[in-house]
Amino acid sequence: MRISVRDIQKLKTNGEPIPTLTAYDATSAYLGEAAGVPLLLVGDSLGMVVQGHQSTIPVTLEHMIYHSAIVVRATQKPMVVGDLPFMSYQLSSEQALVSSGRLMQEAGVNAVKLEGGETMASTIKRIVEIGIPVMAHIGLTPQSVNRFGGFRVQGREITSARQLLRDAQAVQDAGAFAVVLELVAAPLAEMITSRLDIPTIGIGSGAACDGQIQVFHDLLGLHPSFGPRHAKQFVNAGAAMEGALRQYVDEVKSRQFPTLENGFSMSDEVLATLQTESELV
Ligand code: KIV
Repeated sequence: MRISVRDIQKLKTNGEPIPTLTAYDATSAYLGEAAGVPLLLVGDSLGMVVQGHQSTIPVTLEHMIYHSAIVVRATQKPMVVGDLPFMSYQLSSEQALVSSGRLMQEAGVNAVKLEGGETMASTIKRIVEIGIPVMAHIGLTPQSVNRFGGFRVQGREITSARQLLRDAQAVQDAGAFAVVLELVAAPLAEMITSRLDIPTIGIGSGAACDGQIQVFHDLLGLHPSFGPRHAKQFVNAGAAMEGALRQYVDEVKSRQFPTLENGFSMSDEVLATLQTESELV
């Protein structure tokens, strides 16, 4: 049985931190589950870390369904949340319902995530009403990076801080089961966390959030040239992998690899017979 929205809520009620991770394929999903992550997000950050784009904007609903289905297939226990990509839910509540339904029906996700606060509250309410759990996402919302003018900390001024408090309350009132706080000034994230009943999942928003979410590739150092301040690189796996691949290239070139142990033999008799025959077939 997978972890449910009730289990996630229980973690907040019991004061237990919620370690959340992005996953995009069978390997990241398997490793996340093996490490004991209760909640996997198939984030549209795949636009950057998997597809090599500069932002999440080019990601489509078809891409999200494809990757979400893989993560669902590769795991048994964690709750899997699928991100609604840019322009798959902003046009109308009807569009949001159709896109959420497709993610759930075609990929098998347990919930969807969308970006936006007060302005998305009525859409969240409609999606929740048809039985699809919604994780909200406020603060720095990457699909609007062009409006923010870059990846900047949110809520440092009184007007934007008040707006974030209203956004947080609005998504909770609309029925969201959790809310991601991205790049929200830490004291404000703490205030939001204490005022909400639903869990806050922070990224670059301080230690007081109920949970933390990080991008798989950032934690493992898979993109050595990219290290955002909000992420901790727990291992430099990218460097280790590159070193191993360089060794592979060297060993093939120097004929050190493969060895006899990496190959398969055949009987001397068959070989001897073949050697007496001159033709190839
Ligand atoms: O797309 C994503 O991976 C996200 C998380 C980083 C919150 O939205």
